[in-house]
Amino acid sequence: MTPPDKPQPRPLLQVEDLRKTYPSPQGPLEILKGAALTLTEGESLALMGESGSGKSTLLHLIGALDRPDSGEIRLDGAPISRLAEAEQAALRCKTLGVVFQQFNLISSLDVRANLAFQARISGRFDPQWLEELTERLGLGALLTRYPEQLSGGQQQRVAIGRALAVRPRLLLADEPTGNLDEATGDAVLGLALELVAATGCAFLMVTHSARLAARLDRQACLSCGVAIEEDAPGRKARAAR
Ligand SMILES: Nc1ncnc2c1ncn2[C@@H]1O[C@H](COP(=O)(O)OP(=O)(O)O)[C@@H](O)[C@H]1O
Ligand SMILES: [Mg+2]
Repeated sequence: MTPPDKPQPRPLLQVEDLRKTYPSPQGPLEILKGAALTLTEGESLALMGESGSGKSTLLHLIGALDRPDSGEIRLDGAPISRLAEAEQAALRCKTLGVVFQQFNLISSLDVRANLAFQARISGRFDPQWLEELTERLGLGALLTRYPEQLSGGQQQRVAIGRALAVRPRLLLADEPTGNLDEATGDAVLGLALELVAATGCAFLMVTHSARLAARLDRQACLSCGVAIEEDAPGRKARAAR
């Protein structure tokens, strides 16, 4: 029990009774059937589940890249799934960072411009912070290279830097190590976790790897359209990392 005088951690992300159906030639495909999860500030959660279980769908809905059929997504109290498009975009720009399995860097821009891209378009460009990110991600010698001149691990480090350059409150990552070999994936996740801890942002990561998932504070599995959280004893204390 939490003593009454201890302030409760503030919920940053609240997903409630989320439902999403896609049309298919065989009829409607019910992917999310009442999914719910909560993430407090600074907390990290690994989301696992079989291929096709709806992990990317859930992340896209949280990232306001798509709308649910019903249910609620609150980001820092704002009902992101019900906002008008312009308000969604504004909230997304200043509150969210997103990292994808395929890196999604802009091929015509060098590393320096890729790193600054989201921060510039959202009016949150901070050269000092970008310099620190560049250093912490080990990208200093690569700033004038283009994405095609980088390894997968290097590209993902740039993508993480680009996402964190806006100082998001929540970092979303959809299988960020899925295209990397094990050692590179481990190292890239290590850097991401260090930066997440340093910035205090919350982190929601989809992964197929139980080993990588165990490095986050909490673990949940998406199954039959709902997210089932693993038992509290399996949780890792942030301080233990
Ligand atoms: N835009 C879409 N239209 C129709 N079906 C989709 C669409 N996006 C995803 N799906 C289907 O929804 C299911 C869940 O997809 P997804 O969320 O990508 O799963 P996961 O990320 O867990 O592998 C899959 O069967 C997929 O084919
Ligand atoms: Mg997916």
